[in-house]
Amino acid sequence: MNAQPFVEQLAKLFPRAEDIPEQFRIEPLHQRDYLVDGQMKTWNGKVHEVYSPVYIRSHDGTLHQQLIGSYPLTGEAEAMEALEAACAAYQNGRGLWPTMSVEERIGCVEHFTRLMVARKAEVVKLLMWEIGKSYADSVKEFDRTVEYIYNTIDALKELDRNNSRFVIEQGIVGQIRRAPLGVVLCMGPFNYPLNETFTTLLPAVIMGNAVLFKPPKFGTLLHYPLLEAFRQAFPPGVVNTIYGRGNAVVPALMQSGKINVLTLIGSSRVADSLKKLHPKVNRLKAILGLDAKNAGIVLESADLEAAVRECILGTLSFNGQRCTAIKIIFVHRKIAERFLGRFSEEVSKLKVGMPWETGVMLTPLPEPHKPAYLQECIDDALAHGAKIINPNGGIHFKSLFYPAIVYPVTPAMKLYREEQFGPVIPVIPFDDVEEPIHYLEESDHGQQVSIFGTNTDQIAYLIDPLVNQVCRVNINSQCQRGPDTFPFTGRKDSAEGTLSVSDALRSFSIRSLVATKLTEENKAIVNKIVNEHKSKFLATRFIL
Ligand code: G3H
Repeated sequence: MNAQPFVEQLAKLFPRAEDIPEQFRIEPLHQRDYLVDGQMKTWNGKVHEVYSPVYIRSHDGTLHQQLIGSYPLTGEAEAMEALEAACAAYQNGRGLWPTMSVEERIGCVEHFTRLMVARKAEVVKLLMWEIGKSYADSVKEFDRTVEYIYNTIDALKELDRNNSRFVIEQGIVGQIRRAPLGVVLCMGPFNYPLNETFTTLLPAVIMGNAVLFKPPKFGTLLHYPLLEAFRQAFPPGVVNTIYGRGNAVVPALMQSGKINVLTLIGSSRVADSLKKLHPKVNRLKAILGLDAKNAGIVLESADLEAAVRECILGTLSFNGQRCTAIKIIFVHRKIAERFLGRFSEEVSKLKVGMPWETGVMLTPLPEPHKPAYLQECIDDALAHGAKIINPNGGIHFKSLFYPAIVYPVTPAMKLYREEQFGPVIPVIPFDDVEEPIHYLEESDHGQQVSIFGTNTDQIAYLIDPLVNQVCRVNINSQCQRGPDTFPFTGRKDSAEGTLSVSDALRSFSIRSLVATKLTEENKAIVNKIVNEHKSKFLATRFIL
């Protein structure tokens, strides 16, 4: 047993520069250009300096956050310039990109993906340093994103094949395809800055829309190596970047009325306020991934080891900073003590450290205010009668925050309702399954739930009401987004629209059709257009 106070043990985890393995050392990246209208434009104005959540120990023992680069703090004028470029590329649906054949657009996305893969090492390293994600998880995020793009291409081919035929109904012949919506404003989250951004951005692009892309505040630099790939692979104005403070640059975009789709993975508060700025809300489509407070429900019949294993993954993967994380656990009172004992033991086995360390699970948190906020949640719970169950729970130093299991949590506490988005785990005992059902009914969130148990009567009793409260009920499994072919959505304040490989293609497009009454003259007209390949829409070409 190490007698050193735990906070000192945490402090010691921050390395000296020479302790960092060679392949993970980073040279600051000072981004001075941004992509607009197919050009990398140079920025000479204010910049935002990016400091890693990883602190470095100097020789005199002091700690400083590693400076990893800077990026342009562009303003409203540059955002409007990007908007004009996107509008010009879309050109009311007459631009080169929205009128290109699906096959040609797929070719551009394939080109982009090859260029993206060539920059993998840089992007992965920036992911680690910018948001503190472990090397293993950063690689996983990159690879999963590439796989998502390839799956999207396959899904679009399939969709296009199905639409490359005519439908005849009631004497009318029609060809129904999916057409783009216009200009899309795309904003991603810091916790999956690459993956979650690209799972909206790439489907939007491939369907023929023009995009304004604003990277998240934490997780911006990692996109820089990919700007050149966007520039090379797509026609000018199809992908444009926006930097700067969201509240300074985004309102004017929305107020212009020229944004056709808002896609944002973030908070419902921001999404609501942005939508309201649009002068014609009926013209705005929103695809949103928002707040969530997924519950784990551990029944008396649960296989305790399996429940603990999944609850560890569900609550603490990437330090609990996943929208799909289990953010509150209900445990049957009869097994609460045993569950907490085993859960606490397993937490103590998790490795805390720097993102490059093998097997590390708990890493520095990127949001500077987060440790203080989590402490506030814990203090509030303690003041209302809860206890921290696990040794060293809640001890923190700089950006490292050791997980705290807090029990018993009651409705009087912040942790009961607030989405903590970090390594604090509220646990509530229950006697009757109606209690967690009631919690979910009353909740503002409706993303997922996890039920842990072996009693099929009880599991089934929970499934039926809960599928109408949330959009995914997991049995003896943590909550998660994947597989990416499964629908990912939520009710209430948790989402708007559905994402998945195939749903995203539908979300960023609208069905549009060409139809005619089946007279001999009309048949001849349609045949001539199709046979002589006069139209890209009215066509029967089949993508192989
Ligand atoms: O932050 C929300 C992510 O979509 C979660 O994805 O469940 O695969 O970690 P995941």
